[in-house]
Amino acid sequence: MSSTGSLLSALECRACCTQVEPNHLVGTCPTCGHALLAVYDLTRVDGPRWWSSLAGRPRTLWRYRELLPVQSSDAIVTLGEGCTPTLPLPEVPGAPGVRVQLKDDGVIPTGSFKARGMAVAVSRARELGAAALFAPSAGNAAIALSAYGARARVPVRVYLPDRNTAAVQEVCRRYGAEVVAVAGTIRDAGEAGRAAEKGRGSFEMSTLREPYRVEGKKTMGLEIAERASEEGLPDAILYPTGGGTGLVGMYKAFQELQTLGLCERIPRLYAIQPDGCSPVVRALRDGSARVTPWEAPHTLAPGLLVPAPFASERILEAVRGSHGGGTTVTDGELVEAMVELARRYGVSASPEAAAPYAALPHLVDQRAIRAGETVFLYNTGTGLGFSADELRTGLARTSPST
Ligand SMILES: Cc1ncc(COP(=O)(O)O)c(C=O)c1O
Ligand SMILES: [Zn+2]
Repeated sequence: MSSTGSLLSALECRACCTQVEPNHLVGTCPTCGHALLAVYDLTRVDGPRWWSSLAGRPRTLWRYRELLPVQSSDAIVTLGEGCTPTLPLPEVPGAPGVRVQLKDDGVIPTGSFKARGMAVAVSRARELGAAALFAPSAGNAAIALSAYGARARVPVRVYLPDRNTAAVQEVCRRYGAEVVAVAGTIRDAGEAGRAAEKGRGSFEMSTLREPYRVEGKKTMGLEIAERASEEGLPDAILYPTGGGTGLVGMYKAFQELQTLGLCERIPRLYAIQPDGCSPVVRALRDGSARVTPWEAPHTLAPGLLVPAPFASERILEAVRGSHGGGTTVTDGELVEAMVELARRYGVSASPEAAAPYAALPHLVDQRAIRAGETVFLYNTGTGLGFSADELRTGLARTSPST
C-alpha cells in the first residue's frame, strides 16, 4: 500500500468543539449533530516547498493529496477530475472595467463540480469500508455519486425530487444506481432517504452530513490559488449557492493555505441565489447566525432549490469571514445568462451555473464590485441537456410550490 501522505489528523465540530478520530465512518457530530470538518496537521509540511512540488504532479485534484483525507493511493477512485480551465470573459455587459474570469467546471467528469466532492468522499468511504452509499440530490450530485459508485464498485441509491427530469434518473440508472423519486424538494428527498435507509447498513453522502465532500470541493479554492501564484488572487469569487458546500470548501482552502503561508488574503466570496429560494442571501441581509427555511421555494434551477441548507452557520461564516456578500437573480436572468454565456463566449453553463454571470451587473450596481477588480465566476456545471426554449416556456407558467 502506498501512502498519499495525507495530513488528516481529526474531524472537528465547529459548533461544540468536539473532536473525533477520523479513521472510521462517521457522519455528523456525535455530540450535537452539526457538520464535522476535517483537520490537517499543517505543521508537518513546509508550505512553500510543498507548493512548488505540485508543478510536477498529475493534473487532477489528487495533486493536493496531502490536504485531502484519503490515506492510501490504492483507495483513490478517479475519473480524472480537477484542474479545469480558467477562461477570460472580456467586456461583460454591465461590468465595465471589471476583469472577469470564468472557472469552468462544465468540462469536469459527470458534467458538474459535484464530481470533486464525490471523487473524494466515495474514495474515503470505500477506504473506511462503506458497504453501500445513498444521498438525496437535485440531480448533479446523484449523477456524480452514481458514476463514482460504479467506478468504486460500491452500490448506490439516490433519492431525487420527483420533478427531476427523467433524463437524470436514466443517467443514474445507467451507472447502476437505484433511483427513488420523492415528492417535494431535496429536503423531502433527504428525509425520505434517511427514513428508508435506517438499519440497511448504508452510509449517507448528503451535503455536509458527511465530512469529505467538502474536502473535494476545497480543491476549487486550491486550484484558483495555485493559478494565482502566477497571476495574483482574484478580489472576488461569485458562486451559485444551494447547499453551500462549495463556499465552505473554498473558504477552508484559503484558510489552510493562509496557515501554510501560501496566500496573503482570502478573496471575497459571494453567494448567488435565485429570488424564489434565497435563504442564505436573506440571512446575510438580516444579520442572522443561521438561515431560516425558505417558504414556498421555487426556481427553475434545481441545484439552487435548497430551502434550508444544512450547516448554514458554516456557509454564513465563509461569506462573512471573507468580507463577501450575496445577491439574488431572477429565473429569467438565469436563462438569459445561460444563453449569453454560450453566444458571447462559447461557454456551456447550466441555469445554476449561469447565476454568477447574471449576478455580476447587480453587484457592480450595488458597488460591491468595482472597476479594476478581478472577479472569478464559478461555472459549476455544463449546460448540455438543458433547453433554453423549454426553460423559457416553464418561466411563463412558473408558480410557487413546496
Ligand atoms: C450546477 C450546480 N451549481 C451549484 C449547485 C449548488 O451547490 P452547493 O451545494 O455547493 O451550494 C448545484 C447543486 O446541486 C449544482 O448542481
Ligand atoms: Zn458538535
